[in-house]
Amino acid sequence: MKTIGVLTSGGDAPGMNAAVRAVVRTAIANGMTVKGVMRGYNGLIEGDIIDLNARSVSDIINRGGTMLYTARSPRFREEAGIIEGAEACKAAGIEGLVVIGGDGSFRGARDLSLHGIPCVGIPGTIDNDIACTDYTLGFDTAMNTAMEMVDKIRDTSQSHDRCSVVEVMGRHAGHLALQCGIAVGATAIMVPEVELSVEEVIARIKAIQKTGKRHFIVVVAEGVGGVEEIAKQIEAGTGVVTRATTLGHVQRGGNPTVRDRVRATQLGYAAVKLLQEGKGNRVVAIKNNTVVDYDIYEALNMKKDLDMEMYEIANTTSI
Ligand code: F6P
Repeated sequence: MKTIGVLTSGGDAPGMNAAVRAVVRTAIANGMTVKGVMRGYNGLIEGDIIDLNARSVSDIINRGGTMLYTARSPRFREEAGIIEGAEACKAAGIEGLVVIGGDGSFRGARDLSLHGIPCVGIPGTIDNDIACTDYTLGFDTAMNTAMEMVDKIRDTSQSHDRCSVVEVMGRHAGHLALQCGIAVGATAIMVPEVELSVEEVIARIKAIQKTGKRHFIVVVAEGVGGVEEIAKQIEAGTGVVTRATTLGHVQRGGNPTVRDRVRATQLGYAAVKLLQEGKGNRVVAIKNNTVVDYDIYEALNMKKDLDMEMYEIANTTSI
């Protein structure tokens, strides 16, 4: 394989730039030429492709977002879009493609592989909801950002003896909420994977009130939602003045943490090595602190559960 491409797709995540850098430099070190596909699969269909060299990816290891821009591409879910994408690869001389993104991006990589362009996926999403891997790029940075934001909310919440209900991202999964909830010592963590009613949260707050605690933090995953309504019910049920905050897209930005930069570099390196060996339709992943790879079909069929032991630890320690 002489020329490979790299693209980022889906929601951006801190660490994507570091992964692009690793892909470009590993490829160049192994005698390959690299093309950057702009704005995910949309850019591929449109032939929006640039040449990349070792210097094109200088000074990005420390930056959030993605220098290649990103998009979610409805056109690429259609057969016609995939064929156009495969043709665009051939026209640009791209013989293999590294796709950095989430499950949706991997489905695109699988379809493109079927149309003759070997692809390797790198898991990148702040949600950590990709089943084949213990870790997705951006998760650590997002957890830390969410934690810092809730720490700030805690200052005001504590000063006023209030309850703060904070929504964190995660799409349909509660991984981000759970980790953030533990890190901020939340009184209750509401995630889609666990049934916990507002009445139960109220009962929990009332029980803890009896021990002398006067301010509370409730972390709610985006997949549960409805923080304004939850806040109203908590205030009515406990008598504690309650405010709702949705952290939103602040969680997607910022300089990647050490963990995200290092994992991105390892995964970018591993992805290029696979393409170099002529392997496509693969996903690189982290399992038990080791870089592994899976067939994309296999990876997409895996299921990831919430860490219930962690949830139990959170409940036990937040009394
Ligand atoms: O997948 C990352 C993520 O930030 C989710 O946590 C969230 O549900 C979604 O993307 C938000 O997407 P958008 O940026 O399109 O609003």
